[in-house]
Amino acid sequence: MSSKLAELNAWVAHYADLTGADRVHWCDGSEEESARLVELMLGSGDLIALNPQTHPNCFLHRSSVSDVARVEHLTFVCTANRDDAGPNNHWMDPEQAKAKMAALYKGCMKGRTLYVVPYCMGPIDSPLARCGVEITDSPYVVANMRLMTRMGAAALARIEREGTFVKGVHSTGDLNPDRRFIMHFPEELGIQSFGSGYGGNALLGKKCHALRIASWQARQEGWLAEHMLILGVENPQGETHYIAAAFPSACGKTNLAMLIPPQGYREAGWKIWTVGDDICWMRPGADGRLYAINPEAGYFGVAPGTSAKTNPNALAMLTHDAIFTNVAVTADNQPWWEGLPDGTPVADWQGRAFDPANGPAAHPNSRFTVSARQCPSYTPMAEDPQGVPLSAIVFGGRRESLVPLVFEARDWTHGVLVGAGMASETTAAATGAVGVVRRDSMAMKPFAGYNFGDYFAHWLSFDKPGAKLPKIFHVNWFRKNAGGKFLWPGFGDNMRVLEWMIKRVKNEVPGHATAIGILPGEGELNRDGLNIDAADLQALLHVDTHAWRTEVGAIADYLEEFGERTPAALFEELDKTARQLV
Ligand code: PGA
Ligand code: MN
Repeated sequence: MSSKLAELNAWVAHYADLTGADRVHWCDGSEEESARLVELMLGSGDLIALNPQTHPNCFLHRSSVSDVARVEHLTFVCTANRDDAGPNNHWMDPEQAKAKMAALYKGCMKGRTLYVVPYCMGPIDSPLARCGVEITDSPYVVANMRLMTRMGAAALARIEREGTFVKGVHSTGDLNPDRRFIMHFPEELGIQSFGSGYGGNALLGKKCHALRIASWQARQEGWLAEHMLILGVENPQGETHYIAAAFPSACGKTNLAMLIPPQGYREAGWKIWTVGDDICWMRPGADGRLYAINPEAGYFGVAPGTSAKTNPNALAMLTHDAIFTNVAVTADNQPWWEGLPDGTPVADWQGRAFDPANGPAAHPNSRFTVSARQCPSYTPMAEDPQGVPLSAIVFGGRRESLVPLVFEARDWTHGVLVGAGMASETTAAATGAVGVVRRDSMAMKPFAGYNFGDYFAHWLSFDKPGAKLPKIFHVNWFRKNAGGKFLWPGFGDNMRVLEWMIKRVKNEVPGHATAIGILPGEGELNRDGLNIDAADLQALLHVDTHAWRTEVGAIADYLEEFGERTPAALFEELDKTARQLV
């Protein structure tokens, strides 16, 4: 055995001992292993088989009723120096956090199997990819990690070669919300999670590793780990531009990543390719451009609202080999959620007879887990070890008012300010109030593993001689009129906005310069086949000077929260905007 695996073995042995696990199982990622785990979970009730005719190899998992979303208030970044975690994170002293977790882990796996899950985030042979090992007592977590990461023997071989890996420990414990913590130790590349079996709290490769720990690693190593989808836009000439876009959870990243263009575009030969729907790791290549990989191998998407109208590609990939969490089921045992036009739920997400008096049939944060390869628009470029070159970066949020449909930042520094100042109405993806506007810089508020002030400075640092950086845009699909109706049709029609961005990238249209950035000029947004009122379109592209002055003030107050660590360049840039808002 190599010395590198000896370290891994010693770490596993320590936790096997501490947790009192009955058995230790090293996951190899094979079909046989997966089949055995499914059998086991069908027996224990962790999984329920869905209709094998309509949904072969699909299973339903019902989580504990109080364990249905990420828990930001119980998520900590434990750095030696509190300021390194920043006001954007909850902080706990690392030694105190470890003592707390060790007490919780003690004996917690008695009667259970400890699974060792080696995984790789990113194509297995990519220099941008990074490995980790998750210890967990949840076979549901193993099944999800198998879909969401490159899990098993190949990852273990890379770990043996490289030596470094992120060490994640997870136990569902007793699912008591009072004994639930998600701890991060970026300085030692460690994660410790207890008391939740749900999504980002428990699948440690996703938010914990690929965003919180990776953002820290990325800062040390000169790259970026971001909460972004990646898509390719192929034009009729066969040229593909890649775009990365950051939206907060449950704001449509999956739908945009899998967009099907409107009929006129399809007939002309336009196509959208999906690289990823949630996380993007990017770094400058030798030519100065930013190259991006999707570190994930699957999608953990929000089910409600997913339909043949909003996301036909997603619907198509969910007919086989998928895990559904907290959805409802129909009489013939098909998965069901709000937004599907057909089918009737008979059992709700808790397994009760469906009664609308109890609320929606599917939990608003119910999910599907599925391999990325099942998506009809998935591109083999997602497996390219070098990643794809980015032409544009997009920030966006859910804003009923104020923020126009699309605008382009003046330059990189302004783009960083636009990302830093973005805000969005909260959703069901995290526990807490829904619909409250909060600042969510780069959609990373819940995920940046270090002080936002330092993070903004790191973003700014990419603008250096020789860099050929992507253009930065901001979008808002969620504007409403006074009657509460959405002004923009969204979904496939978002293609029109993507096309305008590419025209800007290629310098084919001049745009219309305003105080907040460059908006589409008269006639620049393709409206062929678009059913939209001229007045609505005007409202979507209007910059309300008075309201924006208030917004600029609010952004300044927010940036002040990070004190000395906020780069002065952002305040100077904000002043530039303020001076033009007259
Ligand atoms: P999301 O993922 O926040 O990106 O929707 C949820 C989760 O990881 O639990
Ligand atoms: Mn996300």
